[in-house]
Amino acid sequence: MFKLQDKHLSFLMLLTTLVILGCNTTEPIVKAESIHGKSVESIVQSMTLAEKVGQMTQAGRAHLVRESDIRDYNLGSILSGGGSAPDVNEPAAWADMVDEYQDLASQTRLGIPLMYGIDAIHGHNNVYGATIVPHNIGLGAMGNPELVKALAALTAKEVRATGINWTFSPCVANSRDERWGRAYESFGEDPALISLLGQAMVEGYQGSALNAPDAVAACTKHYIGDGAPTWGTGNNGQIDRGDAIIDEGTLRTLHLPPYIEAIEAGTATIMASYNSWNGVKLHGHRQLLTDLLKDELGFEGFIVSDWQGIDEIPGDYKSDIITSINAGVDMVMVPGITRGSGEGYREFIKLLKEAVNEGSVEMTRIDDAVTRILNVKKSMGLLDSAYANDRSLISTVGSAEHREIARQAVRESLVMLKNDGTLPLAKDLSKIVVTGRGADNVGMQCGGWSIAWQGGMGDITPGTSILEGVQEMVSSETQVIHSLTGSDISGADAVIVVVGESPYAEMHGDRAELELDEDDIQVINRVKSSGIPMVVVLLSGRPMIINDVLEDANSLLAAWLPGTEGNGITDVLFGDYAPSGKLSVTWPASMDQIPINWKDSNYSPLFSYGYGLTY
Ligand code: BGC
Ligand code: BGC
Repeated sequence: MFKLQDKHLSFLMLLTTLVILGCNTTEPIVKAESIHGKSVESIVQSMTLAEKVGQMTQAGRAHLVRESDIRDYNLGSILSGGGSAPDVNEPAAWADMVDEYQDLASQTRLGIPLMYGIDAIHGHNNVYGATIVPHNIGLGAMGNPELVKALAALTAKEVRATGINWTFSPCVANSRDERWGRAYESFGEDPALISLLGQAMVEGYQGSALNAPDAVAACTKHYIGDGAPTWGTGNNGQIDRGDAIIDEGTLRTLHLPPYIEAIEAGTATIMASYNSWNGVKLHGHRQLLTDLLKDELGFEGFIVSDWQGIDEIPGDYKSDIITSINAGVDMVMVPGITRGSGEGYREFIKLLKEAVNEGSVEMTRIDDAVTRILNVKKSMGLLDSAYANDRSLISTVGSAEHREIARQAVRESLVMLKNDGTLPLAKDLSKIVVTGRGADNVGMQCGGWSIAWQGGMGDITPGTSILEGVQEMVSSETQVIHSLTGSDISGADAVIVVVGESPYAEMHGDRAELELDEDDIQVINRVKSSGIPMVVVLLSGRPMIINDVLEDANSLLAAWLPGTEGNGITDVLFGDYAPSGKLSVTWPASMDQIPINWKDSNYSPLFSYGYGLTY
């Protein structure tokens, strides 16, 4: 039998050392040349084409072929798409992951840190345990820019706590059609309101200065006309990513103002939109990206493309790259697999370098893009000192203080559409039943872009459901019963019915019909037939067709997609606060009225823009 002897051992050790050394020498780690204190201009001058193209590339974390590609391809940015979390979805694990990526970026010749982007669009919504605040449609109804700014500021803190420095928000879409699955990402129909709140959000994210330890770079999106397409021109014959068939005057009046304000507020970045304008995809639209946004409006930050957004331009992948970069896109969200060979960012990098060498993209255009990207990085403080991630912010993720601010936003976003005097409820009723799919459902309250891309039902993350809010609120003598289907309501003094939409996000949320679910209608009918006073709370990302419900209910509150703090709703139900929200969208009376918008010539909705009752 072979016996391991000392000489064998030392030989093995030598071999191991050689193997380790060998690994290191095949991929030499060149010590980062210090860029600290250098001007962007001089850095750009010193860069190779590979380094420049790398800066212009944003890869998806889940799609990295090898993590070391961050170093080997000089990547400028990484993103988490919706729900793209580390294996353990905890703040510290996120921070560890980002640190690892930054460490790889620091091993490049220039050592330029990454921008890490994420959709923190209503709180740091991909992170388990974070504070999830109302979606934009609720903030539109709230109409309080100071509070929007505070929500963005708390979100920025929670984002920075996880090492991330860039959020793909605010969405300043002017949603013209309720059937669009992203209607809830829009603040409403009025460009002035969208501008006011979009600006407040940019200011909240970016804080006192972009290099402050609790600030993140904002990304105003989706430029431009994302909420304007005509039903039938989008994906699957629906509306998302469709064609905005409107004249330039309408584009400028309804959709451009929020960008003017966002630029004024200093938005570091702007994202191009999937939609077309009169048949031409925005991702390849030079007139809108370069002539209007950069030249006319003077936007000095950079334009990032949307997720595989350039792939939608007609032509092969290489021509998509050439068209979009020449049109004015500065950084491309590849993010993984592309239409071409399927090699994702590696293929993108190869083809863009080829295009430059062949002269289809001028070096001046590349230099302009890289200069814009590095200017943003410089104002974020990334070029002036070694990257450091501030772990002390971790305790703010989902903190009581943050949840209190979110709760205030929830109660201010509620729009009371009907009340016969049943509301507010007394806290000392002897028996209250809370029923419906949304009664005890934090996931349904949160809607899409919450933990998962499309969101999910149930206990997706810590929060307070409406049922829990009721339990906290009532007197110790009050009996609170939870009955999912409303079958167990006898003897109740009041029934709170929570119904609405199951979570959805882009692509999956387009709906030709906006009636309530059959389950929801049944619960309402059951309660109605009991004759017990009924308060309906509607959880939805948009107005729905509710004529029958409105007649059956004694009181009805539109709660939109309030997020994790359901007790903001009970604050109003039990009269600690009076409802103050006003519709930032028109509430249609029937499907055939849609699209219907404020200032339309034939305007006879169920509820007009600005409607909202109080106590
Ligand atoms: C969405 C963007 C989002 C991006 C990254 C896209 O599909 O349209 O709003 O920022 O994905 O997740
Ligand atoms: C990602 C989203 C992205 C979407 C676009 C999803 O897989 O998680 O962030 O917006 O794809 O298609």
